[in-house]
Amino acid sequence: METSEVRKAIIPVAGFGTRLLPVTKSVPKELLPVVDVPAIQVIVEECVESGIEEIVFITGRGKEAIEDHFDYDYELEKLLEERGKDRELEKIREISSMIRTIAVRQKKPLGLGHAVSCARDVIGDEPFMVLLPDDIITADPHCTAQMIDVYEKYGQGVVSLMEVPQSAVSDYGIVTGESWAPDLTRVRTLVEKPEPDIAPSNMGIIGRYLLPPIVFEYLEEATPGENGEIQLTDALSKLARERALVGYEFHGMRHDIGDKLGFLTANIAHALRRHDLGPELRKYMETKLEGDLEQ
Ligand code: UTP
Repeated sequence: METSEVRKAIIPVAGFGTRLLPVTKSVPKELLPVVDVPAIQVIVEECVESGIEEIVFITGRGKEAIEDHFDYDYELEKLLEERGKDRELEKIREISSMIRTIAVRQKKPLGLGHAVSCARDVIGDEPFMVLLPDDIITADPHCTAQMIDVYEKYGQGVVSLMEVPQSAVSDYGIVTGESWAPDLTRVRTLVEKPEPDIAPSNMGIIGRYLLPPIVFEYLEEATPGENGEIQLTDALSKLARERALVGYEFHGMRHDIGDKLGFLTANIAHALRRHDLGPELRKYMETKLEGDLEQ
């Protein structure tokens, strides 16, 4: 039976991360740190603090360490216990008891739409979140919690939107539609990564989606595009046409850590906000950095 409560989230992590090569040749980009926390943990914490109860990782070759990160590590726990490192022990235990996680293998990277469809059996007949771990969003309440509020109010699929520079539209799914309520757009059309001169707007979809289970049927019917990939955008277009899709301009700061500059700025912004690092880093940037750059 279809339930309307949003309890489950899909986090696809089967991509290759080519924009961050060479580090991603051997390290999954989802485990690269935002200061001292792996990016994937920041995303999982957003889910937990937004009321999500179960996470489905869509994994691929070389991504096993992501599952391990959320697993119990008895040897490490024993070692920390023996050395009296209580604070570290508590942190490690918190990570492994955070939330129930399930891993589903995407055997071939056949696109984001295909990755989402791999979770169909685990999600069942429920609405679900999809969070792309490249998008680190600082917001209070979390972007996922904001979207759940919109879903509970309107009962329709929701995609997060952001105004993007015209020169960058070809990196995003771009939407058009009409204003529905403050921060909300009734989405009418979606175009995947258009060239700037033909983009119908500069409202881009960011990596947070809250979708009804009918999307799995749309994905099944979708025809593969270039490279045999199944795009999520095609299923979202169908959802907008046949039911309704709401675009939500979330409140918060977003960094794309799948990109080198975004990775660096996310780290600086997060470090500046921390009490243990912020003041020293600020001092370094205001005084020493200038000297270092002159050398
Ligand atoms: P991207 O298009 O950003 O690809 O995928 P990518 O491999 O992660 O990174 P680049 O562009 O090569 O640097 C968007 C999200 O969809 C997942 C990725 O892991 C990422 O979270 N994805 C993409 C899959 O899980 N499977 C796929 O077949 C494609």
